[in-house]
Amino acid sequence: MNKKDLLFYDAYEEFYLMAEKSRAFQLFCAEAFGEDFSQDGFSDISQVNMILPFIAGENAHILDIGCGNGKMLGYLQEKTGCHIHGFDFSENAIKAAAQKYTRRADFIAGVIGETEYAPESFDVITSMDTMYFAKDMPAFVEQIKKWLKPGGVLFAAYQEGDVMPKTADETTTVLAKALRQNSLQYEVKNISLQTYRMLKRKREAALKYEKLFENEGNKSWFDMLLWQTECITEPYEQFSAKMARYIYTAKK
Ligand SMILES: C[S@@+](CC[C@H](N)C(=O)[O-])C[C@H]1O[C@@H](n2cnc3c(N)ncnc32)[C@H](O)[C@@H]1O
Repeated sequence: MNKKDLLFYDAYEEFYLMAEKSRAFQLFCAEAFGEDFSQDGFSDISQVNMILPFIAGENAHILDIGCGNGKMLGYLQEKTGCHIHGFDFSENAIKAAAQKYTRRADFIAGVIGETEYAPESFDVITSMDTMYFAKDMPAFVEQIKKWLKPGGVLFAAYQEGDVMPKTADETTTVLAKALRQNSLQYEVKNISLQTYRMLKRKREAALKYEKLFENEGNKSWFDMLLWQTECITEPYEQFSAKMARYIYTAKK
């Protein structure tokens, strides 16, 4: 399969080159999300810290699907000493991750649906704003279930209203249906209001570093951040009719 045919492949290759070099973007991430994990999404530090209780220490193995340049995994390893594994279709991102994290770490440039791991490899599988790139969600959840050890946990942050259309609520998302189809019991937290507030911080942080983005020649990324956060110029009631964000945790 030609990766270039996949949604946003070229854009992510460029994004991760920029994320490695741009001081403005690194400062923006730290300000907006509380920590710079080169986020192209919505994962602020309070959400990432929710993963920590599931990691039982340095013998634990954690896989991040859509790991980008691995900074979130690096943080989780720094806090717990765990083994870190990640895959992402962006070769630039995986190259950066593999250079940065070399201890108890492995990174694969791989595509959802094609990347494979041995059964019962992981204690925790995380995926922040990435699972919706799966073309066949029930099949992908089945694969994740197979990769988890018995008692292992899937932690997925899941957005509706951009890649995926907004459905009625947290029980009607494509992911919720796929979890039920695979007989995985899950808990879900609606974090749409926190996300609305976080998008506000994202917009303010982008504006704070506008000049630095411009001076670096990265004005187009600044413009993208403003475009991405345009939705918070509407009141929350209108925002939440179009967008939602949930955290699903499912135990095998
Ligand atoms: C919205 S970003 C989220 C990145 C990161 N997890 C975060 O929270 O900032 C989606 C990530 O998934 C990767 N991605 C998109 N489509 C993919 C696919 N079909 N297979 C593997 N990775 C993919 C992108 O390169 C990107 O790193």
